[in-house]
Amino acid sequence: MPRKLVVANWKMHGNLASNQQLLEAYIQKLTPLKNTDVVVCVPYPYLAQAQSILHNTTIAWGAQNLSKDPVGAFTGEVSASMLKDFGATYVIIGHSERATAYCESDENIATKFMQAKSHGLTPILCVGETLIEREAGVMEMVVAKQIDTVIGMYGADVFANTVVSYEPIWAIGSGLAASAAQAQSMHEFIRGRIASADKEAAVSLKILYGGSVNPQNAVQLFVMPDIDGGLIGKCSLSASEFEGICRAAT
Ligand code: PGA
Repeated sequence: MPRKLVVANWKMHGNLASNQQLLEAYIQKLTPLKNTDVVVCVPYPYLAQAQSILHNTTIAWGAQNLSKDPVGAFTGEVSASMLKDFGATYVIIGHSERATAYCESDENIATKFMQAKSHGLTPILCVGETLIEREAGVMEMVVAKQIDTVIGMYGADVFANTVVSYEPIWAIGSGLAASAAQAQSMHEFIRGRIASADKEAAVSLKILYGGSVNPQNAVQLFVMPDIDGGLIGKCSLSASEFEGICRAAT
């Protein structure tokens, strides 16, 4: 059975003191878990801290965004090679909290995906529909467009060994997760979409579910054949809740 991947997305939470406590608790609780890969995506200023605390452990770290450009006069941006300088191996791309608030287009997001990939970072591409889109029954169309933008610009083979996270926007931070059946159905759709363009890429791709995952609902979700793990917001801020989710994956 393929290894599950559980990614913590701290969003804009934490400070030096609380991060240290949380990361030390992660190490204590999560490093004994053998069958699950764990990653924590921290705010940029804390990448150095994550590196110094996690460098000799099995827990990897990454960022929550990156620039679509490699270098240059882009005030406030952070490049892929800067993330690499701090040992980051993963980066979240196109999270809906950014795509909406900072007006990121699918093309912009696809460019960032490629930027990460070409620098040897593993991109975690977030896709998902709004509640209105789900109620209108067009959720697969919406997600297909997000995936097809990457395929159209760079080819389906760029999905090899990367991560897609299905995050229905209505489920993020709402306490109302998608049901295991809803998530599985979309994950199967995503894998099928990529497989129809590149079979091998679809096999090596991990598809996470994100949106109100907690230790209680994690088991039903992770047992589904196309759910390879989770992207965890709120519950990743508590070491014991995050441990519960990682144990469900194991
Ligand atoms: P949540 O966030 O677990 O707090 O719903 C998930 C996410 O935004 O990745």
